[in-house]
Amino acid sequence: MGVMSKKSTDAKNSPTDKSAQKNPMWGGRFAGGASAVMDAINVSIDNDKRFYAEDIAGSLAHAQMLQATGIISAQDCQQITQSLQQIGAQIKQGNFEFSRALEDIHMNIEYALSQDIGEVAGRLHTARSRNDQVATDFRLYIRNVIDGFDAIYCDLLTTLLDQAEKTADMVMPGYTHLQVAQPVTFGHHLMAYVEMFSRDQQRLQDCRKRVNQSPLGAAALAGTSFPIDRHMTADLLGFDMPMRNSLDAVSARDFALEFLSCLSIAAMHLSRLAEEFVLWSSAGFRFINLPDSFTSGSSIMPQKKNPDAAELVRAKSGRILGSFVALMQVMKALPLAYSKDMQEDKSPVFEAVDAFELMLRAMIGMIEHLTPNADKMLNALQHDFPEATDLADWLVQVLGIPFRQAHHVVGGIVAFAETKKVRLGALSLAELQQFHADISAEVFTILNVEQSVHSRHSFGGTAPDRVREAIIEARKKIGR
Ligand code: ARG
Repeated sequence: MGVMSKKSTDAKNSPTDKSAQKNPMWGGRFAGGASAVMDAINVSIDNDKRFYAEDIAGSLAHAQMLQATGIISAQDCQQITQSLQQIGAQIKQGNFEFSRALEDIHMNIEYALSQDIGEVAGRLHTARSRNDQVATDFRLYIRNVIDGFDAIYCDLLTTLLDQAEKTADMVMPGYTHLQVAQPVTFGHHLMAYVEMFSRDQQRLQDCRKRVNQSPLGAAALAGTSFPIDRHMTADLLGFDMPMRNSLDAVSARDFALEFLSCLSIAAMHLSRLAEEFVLWSSAGFRFINLPDSFTSGSSIMPQKKNPDAAELVRAKSGRILGSFVALMQVMKALPLAYSKDMQEDKSPVFEAVDAFELMLRAMIGMIEHLTPNADKMLNALQHDFPEATDLADWLVQVLGIPFRQAHHVVGGIVAFAETKKVRLGALSLAELQQFHADISAEVFTILNVEQSVHSRHSFGGTAPDRVREAIIEARKKIGR
């Protein structure tokens, strides 16, 4: 930001700097150019060049419509179209020089058009404003991003389902309060994330419906006196419909906020699994080994293998929520219609998109290449009495005693086993009978963790058959 270090006497900082270049696109009523500070705060090209392809697509559709409605000639339309396509190709190849003096992507492209085809270029902006143009570009951009994320979600879900299938029988402790609660399977645990991630994917699809409406033709804010066809441009751009109110069309950014809120929730889910990876790969658990390719070493401690990718997924979720909050603050209390504040809508979205894509890809890599450690999971079930509920359920089902009473009986047994430092299954029948005389040797068949998970066969439960059923259902939904 060299501009801030310049002396304040710099001519370009003076409020009436006649030497600075006037903007060739709208400079008509201006005596001089902008100060350097004004440029620094006002110019958005570094940011919005990212959706050049959407800007060109919008202009192509607009030109075609202007011709179809007789507003411009077929010849002018053809020239504009050809030149726009060339400009698009140049930008794609990196052969285009963006100018800060032209502020933003819209004026950079229109200026290049005028350099190429002369005065005819000036007809493109008929019945259009940058206000409806930028809203159109931004909606197209977010729609394309959602479609890209949808495909990555299918990969993520497939990777999780593959891992869940391999581990549908692998018993591990399930936790509440991060205290050992009941045995579950690793596959069942992963399938919980399949459910969360599927909802995140659906949420984005639902958001897409409200993104996919066309502001184009709202012009500056009030519509236009030209006989345009907004349904035609909406169709050409793959929008579901033109937006009904011109003021709303140029003022609304709830589509971007909704998108960021979807990403915030989705990122929160990713961060929860990332957190589990951090825990599970730590010495206290060792339930999984993360692949070397997603971990890093320490510069001082030679033995270390740190779960950096998982930690960064965890952290980036915070930045994504930050993007949502930032845009919310930009939009809050803005009067209708367009205000330049809204130019600040893009960087939070771009930042969130980049972070989110990395999060998805890092999670896919970690899930695909992690190694679950069945022995460690089983070992963790040797402590903390994970079969206590099974024992209480047995007392209810076999001896017919009320659950609340069974709970009390098992509480006593657990306290006793704790003093003896043994598992419930290691107590003798005589010891168990001290707590309820009717307990029979049959009870030992249920005091093991495999039996425990198989017994939880209720719909949505952790029984391996149920887990495999859920995997089949989930695969059907994504067609993989
Ligand atoms: N660069 C501007 C933005 O991103 C484009 C719209 C400018 N409109 C205007 N009336 N100055 O919001």
